[in-house]
Amino acid sequence: MLRIGVIGTGIMGAGHARFIQEHVEGAEVTALADIDPVRVSALANELGTVVLQTKSPEELMKSAAVDAIIIASPDSFHVEHLRLAIASGKPTLCEKPIATNLEDARAISNEIQAHENSVGKKLISFGFMRRFDPGYMRLREEVESGKYGKPLYVKAVIRNHLSPGTTSTGIFTNMAVHDFDIYRWLFKSDWESVSSFYPPHSSSAPDDLNDPLVFVAKLKNGITLVVDAMANGTAGYDTRVELVCERGNLEIGPFGDFAVRTLENFEVTRGGPMEINWMKKFEQSYINELRAWVGEIKSGEVHPDLATHKDALIANESAALGVASIS
Ligand SMILES: NC(=O)c1ccc[n+]([C@@H]2O[C@H](COP(=O)([O-])OP(=O)(O)OC[C@H]3O[C@@H](n4cnc5c(N)ncnc54)[C@H](O)[C@@H]3O)[C@@H](O)[C@H]2O)c1
Repeated sequence: MLRIGVIGTGIMGAGHARFIQEHVEGAEVTALADIDPVRVSALANELGTVVLQTKSPEELMKSAAVDAIIIASPDSFHVEHLRLAIASGKPTLCEKPIATNLEDARAISNEIQAHENSVGKKLISFGFMRRFDPGYMRLREEVESGKYGKPLYVKAVIRNHLSPGTTSTGIFTNMAVHDFDIYRWLFKSDWESVSSFYPPHSSSAPDDLNDPLVFVAKLKNGITLVVDAMANGTAGYDTRVELVCERGNLEIGPFGDFAVRTLENFEVTRGGPMEINWMKKFEQSYINELRAWVGEIKSGEVHPDLATHKDALIANESAALGVASIS
């Protein structure tokens, strides 16, 4: 049994813990850390496998009851918690983003590299779970098959349902950081430019937040991404993708359903009530990601799709192009 300690028991930390318990063989959650002890004890009672409940991420990481660590604390604590993870020497899966600004992202990425060099293996992975999502995996398969011709551009929607505390910078570093990672992964090309545009401001958003925000980003290979982002969308959690290729469009709908649009065939994506967050839509991605991570630790074989600190840094550097484009 790989014994996992989870730091942060909010939506993501609790989600990872439940997915491990229900869907990941050979692993269990033995420790929880959160500044909120009520959340910790509620989740510990639910799981029934937890032997350490603490407010201290450091105590959890040093514990002899923990073999591997998941960091699911808020973005602003990732660097601090990654430093503790390095000191513990234990394999770690850290939620995205690696840091909230470029200076910190570069510093911690260098520290992770030095640590991995000194132990001679990869120890830290990052939660870019779209790489494990059945929809994006199918997108990659269809693109690589060449069946629909050259990919030209992507039209994507990333709308959260009411996110208090989100900033305009956070729309790039917290939300769109997934897009910067996934299309670089899909098209094997780095980002060259990002420009932002501002539709009328939504009264559901705070005055100082650019919400909605539309941005156009270009990869070095020319493929262009047009995203409409909302931190405070009132029509539920909504992420969609339409990849326009020369001979057909490949789509991922709001529920993760995959559809192809050609002259001969138009498949309608699924309907129904919307979710308020991402857990349901990306459930299989999280499960696949956790299985890959546990598999990597147990086998010692690096999984090619698990994001490294370099991938996480590049995602932050790309998001920084977006932040710089905000006027
Ligand atoms: N990969 C994804 O799809 C995805 C989706 C959503 C969020 N995230 C990331 O996961 C992380 C957590 O997001 P969330 O939605 O679960 O947030 P959340 O607010 O629901 O949970 C965060 C938890 O961390 C706890 N916490 C705060 N400060 C702490 C500290 N210093 N030490 C330990 N615990 C602390 C809070 O009490 C809370 O329980 C964020 O970094 C976020 O960007 C990733």
